[in-house]
Amino acid sequence: MVHFKDPFEKMEKEDESRRNLRKPLIAGNWKMNKVLTETIEYALDFKKRVSEVPDVEILICAPFPFLSPLVKTLEDSPIKVGAQDMYWEPHGAFTGAVSAQMLESVGCSHVIIGHSERRHKFGESSEDVNKKTRSALGAYLTPIVCVGETLEERESMRTEEVLREQVTMSLGGQTGEEMLKCVVAYEPVWAIGTGRTATPHQANETQLYVRSLLKEMFGEDVANRTRILYGGSVKPDNVVDLMAEPSIDGVLVGGASLNVESFEKLVKYREITAEEPGDVRDG
Ligand code: 13P
Repeated sequence: MVHFKDPFEKMEKEDESRRNLRKPLIAGNWKMNKVLTETIEYALDFKKRVSEVPDVEILICAPFPFLSPLVKTLEDSPIKVGAQDMYWEPHGAFTGAVSAQMLESVGCSHVIIGHSERRHKFGESSEDVNKKTRSALGAYLTPIVCVGETLEERESMRTEEVLREQVTMSLGGQTGEEMLKCVVAYEPVWAIGTGRTATPHQANETQLYVRSLLKEMFGEDVANRTRILYGGSVKPDNVVDLMAEPSIDGVLVGGASLNVESFEKLVKYREITAEEPGDVRDG
């Protein structure tokens, strides 16, 4: 067992092998927040702050009305833009729905699918998530497929059973090649917006389980090359320890992505010192 002096050192050591296989993705999920002027102001400021961060993919998942203006504002930057949901049909009489083709046509690269708020507040099932995922792939979008257990499920020791159902139903029926175009996000429902984060160890253990399910379904190579993000109360003062875990390949951030300074810190997580969690080193 190797011991590290501080989380930063630990991260540097562990990151290396993972980074070769899976480039970290730092994604913000704005949920139902901001208006257009705030969105543009944020984007203009944010792109100046993070335009030169190496070896990290940066993504903002914004509400539908802001996608097109965000894509325009960020076009000269490495920041990608994604949606938070979509419907699986390409077009037709589905009032209020937005298709993968529409998202692709305005320049989105990613779409969050099956977020726990969609599953629990809008009654979305894993079958729905499966249809949406396949439709997103058909439109050349990268689906970020969310899974995660509730507090009650964790406390009744049903985490693995719930994740097995969600992963196999949401991602089943596709080829390994298609799976490699997806990202998985593990978001324990009890850690979302509660300030209560899974410990890095807890998150890593659970993500190893998710990876083992991917291995059963798609084989070892696909499982090892698929990115699994962690989401749930990620902040500048816990991101270093989370990203140090070998099975955490990025973060999906709600609250802390709404503020440009804190999201900048998360994107620059490699620069956060162990002594001053949350502070970014100069230069
Ligand atoms: P918080 O970071 O606000 O807990 O939200 C997490 C989340 O749901 C991201 O999709």
